Amino acid sequence: MVDVILGLQWGDEGKGKIVDFFANDYDLIARFQGGPNAGHTLYVNDKKIVLHQIPSGVFHEGVINLVGNGVVLDPVTLKRECDTVSSFGIDFRKNLFIAERTHLILPTHRALDKAAELSKGNDKIGSTLKGISPAYMDKTGRNGLRVGDLLDKNFTTAYIKLRLKHQKLLDNYAFNEDISAWEEEFFEAVEFLKHLNIVNGEYFINSKLQQGKKVLAEGAQGSMLDIDFGTFPFVTSSSTITAGVCSGLGVAPQKIGEVIGVTKAYCTRVGSGPFPTELNDETGEKLRQVGNEFGATTGRPRRCGWIDLVALRFACMVNGVTKLVMTKADVLDVFTELKICTSYKLNGKDSTEIPFQMTRINIEPVYKDFMGWNVSTSAAKLPEELPVAMKQYVEFINETVGIHIQYISNGPGREQIISLR
Ligand code: GDP
Ligand code: IMO
Ligand code: MG
Repeated sequence: MVDVILGLQWGDEGKGKIVDFFANDYDLIARFQGGPNAGHTLYVNDKKIVLHQIPSGVFHEGVINLVGNGVVLDPVTLKRECDTVSSFGIDFRKNLFIAERTHLILPTHRALDKAAELSKGNDKIGSTLKGISPAYMDKTGRNGLRVGDLLDKNFTTAYIKLRLKHQKLLDNYAFNEDISAWEEEFFEAVEFLKHLNIVNGEYFINSKLQQGKKVLAEGAQGSMLDIDFGTFPFVTSSSTITAGVCSGLGVAPQKIGEVIGVTKAYCTRVGSGPFPTELNDETGEKLRQVGNEFGATTGRPRRCGWIDLVALRFACMVNGVTKLVMTKADVLDVFTELKICTSYKLNGKDSTEIPFQMTRINIEPVYKDFMGWNVSTSAAKLPEELPVAMKQYVEFINETVGIHIQYISNGPGREQIISLR
């Protein structure tokens, strides 16, 4: 079976830590979408590591990691990350595999991302500028180059052809930065990538499944950033939801087992776009400081606010979530009062549904107030040690969403997680 771990909000829910926590239960961990826009943080021997391209199971002996076909891959980031991984004594040549259908991010994709964002002015998406949207556009536009193409003797010719196409687009944006250094790095990384384990991902993964191996699909970004169901156009360019696992790895829907949805105990968003429960006040600032809410990929301050159960229920619905994990519960330790958004007033009318668009409409979150617990929970190991007020907070979420929180993460460390049953 293929279990799935994915984010239910606007990304950065703590997926990296949770995948790392569950990794030993699986034989293979696979990324199925997104690219180096992701920043998944985990701690190995108390050292902080942020992974962008490699699945978060890479530090576990005997676990295979696959970069699936649905991913867009920047060879430069991959190479850098492989260096980090090997500095921990991990032999990535043994445990890392790349699907040959995975699309490549070229230096000109990054340039196009930058040029397009600049041209949008105040309407900018707040992209991570990693070339994600241009790379996926080349995939759906049927122009892109794939990892398997690297092994073709005509790769350089194909690269030059596509680069020229990109140059014409860049000329329209009047983009004239010199990207020759990026290209130099790219070709160096391409040579490195060519010698990794490049496999046919769909046969690779399905043969493992046939042998009874357990697979974990690791989502990047979050459901509210999904290309179809997110807050379009302020979204990323891939299918971040469970359905993306099938097309992003080549596995059939009936192979999907548990869908483990990760949510923070509150909400954050980095980049532009609607965020109904955002707090532009000292409470929001306190969440940012206590939660250390600064982007793992870009370092940008994350926008912060209360947990939004309208969005959470929606995300559980489109993903078929079977289990919830709530992260960063410890961040709420220092708040005397908490709020949970239970519905929206959409242009004055009550609703518990996510509307078609969220920018040209007045959205007022409706809150239920909760008492804070005001004790440190970060050392807790058992559910009995958790304060009653936290249990009430959790119980209300369980009831409203209709799916149970089964794990509470109470700190960034590997061991800081409590199983509730
Ligand atoms: P991801 O993209 O979903 O993997 O999440 P990020 O790594 O971008 O952001 C999550 C941040 O929260 C990282 O800095 C983690 O180390 C940290 N983190 C994860 N779980 C917890 C938790 O339960 N409590 C606290 N305080 N920090 C956490
Ligand atoms: P992880 O996997 C949070 C956001 C960007 C921007 C929008 C589009 O770490 O949770 P893109 O670069 O994809 O064109 O940016 O999506 N974004 C993320 N926000 N976490 C992420 O990944 C994100 N990946 C993209 O900030 O608003
Ligand atoms: Mg992140």
